[in-house]
Amino acid sequence: MLLSKTEKEDLDQIVSIESHKDNSIFVFPNTKEEHLNLISNEDINHFILTEDDGSIIGYVILAGLTNTNKSIELRRIVISKKGKGYGRKALNKIMNYCFNELHCHRLWLDVLDANDRARYLYQSEGFKEEGVLRDCIFKNGKYQNLIIMSLLEMEYKNN
Ligand SMILES: CC(C)(COP(=O)(O)OP(=O)(O)OC[C@H]1O[C@@H](n2cnc3c(N)ncnc32)[C@H](O)[C@@H]1OP(=O)(O)O)[C@@H](O)C(=O)NCCC(=O)NCCS
Repeated sequence: MLLSKTEKEDLDQIVSIESHKDNSIFVFPNTKEEHLNLISNEDINHFILTEDDGSIIGYVILAGLTNTNKSIELRRIVISKKGKGYGRKALNKIMNYCFNELHCHRLWLDVLDANDRARYLYQSEGFKEEGVLRDCIFKNGKYQNLIIMSLLEMEYKNN
């Protein structure tokens, strides 16, 4: 699996993956125009994940690249072919990139508390829950909690 910069030509596929109901229930879908703005934003890294044959199997958005606190947000990770280990592989690539290449101090994210698969994945890779934003999201017809999770450089490197 390869992690590479998202190009304009990839965006139709990204929007299509993002709008699939298995993904849109857990993330906050953007329009193609919004993704286009994200790929040219210096604070953002927008990556596609591809299989060996070049087909796109997901994407990742990192934010906070210009942040002086060296705190990077894993804003989004979506894998279209679920349950094959791609999510874990992708997360490992992101952690390696953030801590070993960008030398960030803190990698953080938020996740809906109903998103058991993602929460398990993050926790099993060492992310710690920092707190709960109670009922802060109205999505899928109900109020939902957001869990804030983070991994610090020291924790990553001592693992
Ligand atoms: C969350 C997501 C990125 C994970 O990627 P994936 O490729 O499906 O995950 P993996 O195959 O690497 O599996 C990760 C782990 O979750 C476990 N898992 C699967 N379903 C689960 C569930 N319902 N509850 C808890 N754990 C679950 C798997 O067993 C695996 O653990 P293991 O390696 O110990 O066996 C992907 O499912 C996805 O895109 N979901 C929709 C969008 C989303 O939720 N993004 C994250 C927003 S914060």
